[in-house]
Amino acid sequence: MGKNRQHRFEMLSWAVRLENRSLWSENADQGNTVYGESLRKFSGIEYRRWDPSRSKLGAAIMRTRRDRSYLLPDPGSTVLYLGAGHGTSISHLHDHICGARNDLGGRIVAVDLAPRCLRDLTHLASLRPGLVPVLGDARKHNAWGVLLPRKVKWLFQDVAQSGQVEIFINACRRFLQINGIGLLSLKAASERWTGEGEDVLFEKVAEQLSETGFIVEESIKLTGYEDNHVLFVARRVE
Ligand SMILES: C[S@@+](CC[C@H](N)C(=O)[O-])C[C@H]1O[C@@H](n2cnc3c(N)ncnc32)[C@H](O)[C@@H]1O
Repeated sequence: MGKNRQHRFEMLSWAVRLENRSLWSENADQGNTVYGESLRKFSGIEYRRWDPSRSKLGAAIMRTRRDRSYLLPDPGSTVLYLGAGHGTSISHLHDHICGARNDLGGRIVAVDLAPRCLRDLTHLASLRPGLVPVLGDARKHNAWGVLLPRKVKWLFQDVAQSGQVEIFINACRRFLQINGIGLLSLKAASERWTGEGEDVLFEKVAEQLSETGFIVEESIKLTGYEDNHVLFVARRVE
């Protein structure tokens, strides 16, 4: 933790900064915001505020009990993001993986079913090289899998639809390296569950992941940022 008279801060990566209790990423598209977030300079470098109540990845970084940086992929790597939405989380991920002009040579394959999301993602990609928007279904790998000739070390899924766990397991089998990290954001309300409450549902999901070739490294409750959501951090081992 770095310290000076006004601030306590921690660099979670070259681009991601925790300043007291707020999260920031170095803006790869200087002067521009993506979703109305604040801009601020630290030591003359412009950062964007990463709002954890608008981003499950941001919420998980704030809520994890482990080293926060283990949730982030390697800068300059290729990653797969399923359920890209309008690009809120992806824009911060892009700051970290690609940097300005994609100087780091990273690649984010961002898949979403909704044409309105693709419009926003396509605009974002025109300002942020390295972002590859795909109009597609997370379940239909053959339509877009050609964009990922090699398996990735980091995969994120936030599709908020029923059958999320099976979609995640199948995507990891096809696209995630052994030892790679898959992050599954699970929305309890999206599952058809008639059991004993959402804690039991979350335990069952962790069990299902453990039985299908993953070690669940952490189940992070996002309560306070995104109620009724858990983010599972699953390492693929088989
Ligand atoms: C909660 S939003 C994602 C928000 C985004 N992850 C973020 O943090 O900025 C869920 C998205 O998943 C998309 N989605 C739902 N089912 C899908 C599927 N089968 N394949 C691809 N995208 C899907 C929806 O269109 C929606 O944009």
